[in-house]
Amino acid sequence: MKLTDNEKREILKLLESDRPLPDKYRFLLFDDKREVELIWNGKNNEVTNIVLPFQVIEQVDEPRAEQLADTALQMSMFDTRGRQKSGWTNKLIWGDNKLILSSLKNGAMREEIEKNGGIKLIYIDPPFDVGADFSMDIEIGEDTFTKNPNVLEELAYRDTWGKGADSFISMIYERLIIMRDLLADDGSIYVHCDWRVSGHIRFLLDEIFGNNNHQNELIWHFIKGASGNDRFGRKHQTIFWYSKSVENHIFNRKEIGIAYNPETIARAQRGEARYNVTAEELEERGKNPGDVWTDIHPVQGNSIENTKYSTQKPESLLERIINASSNEGDIVADFFCGSGTTLAVAEKLNRKWIGSDLGKFAIHTSRKRMIGVQRELKTAGKDFRAFEILNLGKYERAHYIGVNLNLREEEQKKQLEQREKDFIALILRAYRAETVEAFRTFQGKKSGRMVAVGSVNLPVTRLFVEEIILECREKHVSRVDILAFEFEMGLFPNVQEEAKSKGIDLALKYIPREVFDKRAIEKNQVVFHDVSYIEVKPIVKKNSVAVELTDFSVFYSQDSVENASASLKDGGNKIVVENGKIIKVSKDKAGIITREILTKKWTDWIDYWAVDFDFENKREIIRVKDEASGEMEEKWTGDFIFENEWQSFRTKKDRTLELKTPPHEVPAGRRKIAVKVVDIFGNDTMKILDVTVTGK
Ligand SMILES: C[S@@+](CC[C@H](N)C(=O)[O-])C[C@H]1O[C@@H](n2cnc3c(N)ncnc32)[C@H](O)[C@@H]1O
Repeated sequence: MKLTDNEKREILKLLESDRPLPDKYRFLLFDDKREVELIWNGKNNEVTNIVLPFQVIEQVDEPRAEQLADTALQMSMFDTRGRQKSGWTNKLIWGDNKLILSSLKNGAMREEIEKNGGIKLIYIDPPFDVGADFSMDIEIGEDTFTKNPNVLEELAYRDTWGKGADSFISMIYERLIIMRDLLADDGSIYVHCDWRVSGHIRFLLDEIFGNNNHQNELIWHFIKGASGNDRFGRKHQTIFWYSKSVENHIFNRKEIGIAYNPETIARAQRGEARYNVTAEELEERGKNPGDVWTDIHPVQGNSIENTKYSTQKPESLLERIINASSNEGDIVADFFCGSGTTLAVAEKLNRKWIGSDLGKFAIHTSRKRMIGVQRELKTAGKDFRAFEILNLGKYERAHYIGVNLNLREEEQKKQLEQREKDFIALILRAYRAETVEAFRTFQGKKSGRMVAVGSVNLPVTRLFVEEIILECREKHVSRVDILAFEFEMGLFPNVQEEAKSKGIDLALKYIPREVFDKRAIEKNQVVFHDVSYIEVKPIVKKNSVAVELTDFSVFYSQDSVENASASLKDGGNKIVVENGKIIKVSKDKAGIITREILTKKWTDWIDYWAVDFDFENKREIIRVKDEASGEMEEKWTGDFIFENEWQSFRTKKDRTLELKTPPHEVPAGRRKIAVKVVDIFGNDTMKILDVTVTGK
């Protein structure tokens, strides 16, 4: 360090008087002097190395194999139940990608990824355009209604954007570092952004991947978009391509050629081509599209691929990227997958894929889209792979409340007890309930109702509810709200009816993930949704069973007509959900309020439903490290995986919904059938039926 005595004295003086050092010392004091670097308040190179086990919440093997013979097409890959026999299963993961990335990098799934060649290509399109990601179209029955973004949907992004560009940069920085570590040595990353953050992202990528690995700055130029009168029209977005290594990266020049203009071909035919190539050679190879892409159009409103996800990117954009930087059979990943464009294109181009998103609606949109792609490929006689939907579920929640999952079970339990107390206080605050003491099962009270909070990492069981009913009877309590992340399947509505017969009004409410957002709690923006109610009828024949959906209701409330009427401007309108009805409240120019109920039939609430004809057939196994031996071991979580064997859902093109499955051939015996319904907000509910097929 070449500091003069004067400089040393100055530093000491400043430190002693608790004053900041001048900027010049940054370059004099530290070893690692980068020539150019992006610095922001709070920058540090620490990345999380938390490992949480993934939970499989659903498995989609082969869509709609109604008859055993239907599975014949892919017999080599699927068994007679339509299950993929072996090999890689694609992954759609719901949750914050920071925890997902570090669990992928450091956890048990890494081995599987490496066995399949590692991740060769990552494309990400992070939410750089604040606001654009929140609006969503709610589809009601056969109509579509655009619901404007509301504060609730913005919550998910608040940590990213709450403190301006800085927080976006630190959010993406840490994730990019883990993505680099996850990439295969010959892998590539494409980062999609626009004028708002492209400058920052370029610096970050240079730092993380090295400037010499910067392969292209791709400009995606399009015609769409406002021009404005006070500046030039913003008509492009930027995609940075970085490879992990300089010498060894995939670039399939042959796969990306576009047609030469006829004039060039004609010149080659006349023998006037610049490099002595024939017209045939030119036509076969195609022209390198260069780094400014003008031939790819944004998703059009009426196009088949439009999923109504507002930030959806066109498939043709991803086709070029995936074709260029990966080969068939490679793993392609998108950790901000949105509507699943990368995944859909990867599947069609015979790549394996991993996708993740924080939004429930994004995961649901991707699920429908991928089932659509499977169906399409199946009809065309082409191969496709099974996919599973995963999350970090209870582990993610335990992590949020601060339980160290690497501790021994005993210590984990102790820590959990303390943290559960804090957790209950947090939930009660979010629910705006006051704390009560001296009860066995109740922790709070709100508007004359007692409140019980379920455990952070276990579903509320019948036993738990029975304890509550017992205490209600002892202490003459007649109104109770039970708040939980999960309820044991089949609990509703039976348990409520049972309570009702004893004079107890029981409401079961879901705790939303937003409870972990302090600012949302402070602003009273956390909504606890009531559990929905499903009614289904099994139609059992000699050796088959069909299922008919006969009723579905939700009891959501989000805002109220009264609130909306008071806050509306003249000429405005708002959609509210009140007592299980979606209502459009409008105020005309003269200030007159009208209400229109948009949900007319119970089926209007349903976006999607699916059936597993043999639930409890596939146990959910997780791989965790045994603390004593350090070895990875398999553990049954006590849950079963929902194997999605039949499904009907609305798409933008086809708004109809089938309400009855065709008869599904099954072997004789007792079985459990699981029915999952996803409503138009993307919330899902499950019901389990016991059925006996005699075979006679
Ligand atoms: C611009 S959109 C991606 C759109 C996508 N390329 C498509 O074609 O549909 C960004 C996505 O990132 C997701 N997202 C934002 N923060 C996230 C996080 N921390 N973890 C996972 N996903 C996140 C949002 O939910 C949103 O769906």
